[in-house]
Amino acid sequence: MKIHDFKRKKDEQQKISMITCYDYPSACIVAESNIDCVLVGDSVAMAVHGHETTVTATMEMMILHTQAVARGLNQQFLISDLPFLCHKSSLSHTVENVKRLLQAGAQAVKIEGADADTCQTISHLVNAGVPVIGHIGLTPQSIHQLGGFKIQGKNQEQAEQLLQQAHQLEAAGCFALVIECVPQQLALTITESLSIPTIGIGAGFHTDGQVLVWHDMLGLQTEFNPKFVKRYLQGKELLLGALNAYAQQVQQVNFPTAEHSF
Ligand code: KIV
Repeated sequence: MKIHDFKRKKDEQQKISMITCYDYPSACIVAESNIDCVLVGDSVAMAVHGHETTVTATMEMMILHTQAVARGLNQQFLISDLPFLCHKSSLSHTVENVKRLLQAGAQAVKIEGADADTCQTISHLVNAGVPVIGHIGLTPQSIHQLGGFKIQGKNQEQAEQLLQQAHQLEAAGCFALVIECVPQQLALTITESLSIPTIGIGAGFHTDGQVLVWHDMLGLQTEFNPKFVKRYLQGKELLLGALNAYAQQVQQVNFPTAEHSF
């Protein structure tokens, strides 16, 4: 998938599938799938590094994981997250951070939030030739300000604010918009009022596409169970079964056999 396919898919009413990915072997599997695009999300800090929030994601983390994923993909469009506050200190610092992500193999960056400064920064990046995807609703980098992982845009005032943010991000030049954890009716209103596609997570089925976190959709973690996650595999159970079978065979001297020996 190429950047222009995002808008084309929306115009042709074809849904866009996005998955997060953080490492080379997983990216090789995605490369053989029908998934449209891949996000090296700053959720890597939680899903892979075991942190409580995404606030701890660093540029170094994002670069390393982006490089690994880029090596495994061939067709899918690759987006990387700009981590917490990495677009806030100065424009030149932001440009340097974005350059590092693109040089690591990303084809676009995702930036959370839609305050005036962020929109101005996005506009500057887009004018400089960087594709940017916005992210509104539950923006996990603002978790301490939001007071937890909660659904956003529930009342009229918040809903109007999110709609306004969506328009500001479109005007700033975003080629698409992630909408996280909002009522599906609001996601519909936003999706219908934009010419760029919306990618939802916890935002219902009206958005132009969906994104899920790798470890959630494959059931590789079972501690975090939000309503919007669908498990397409009982990954943890399958892995546990394999690990225990191996441990048992080692204990019982059933592995290695002649087949695996020289
Ligand atoms: O970091 C991430 O994985 C994300 C997606 C959940 C949209 O931002």
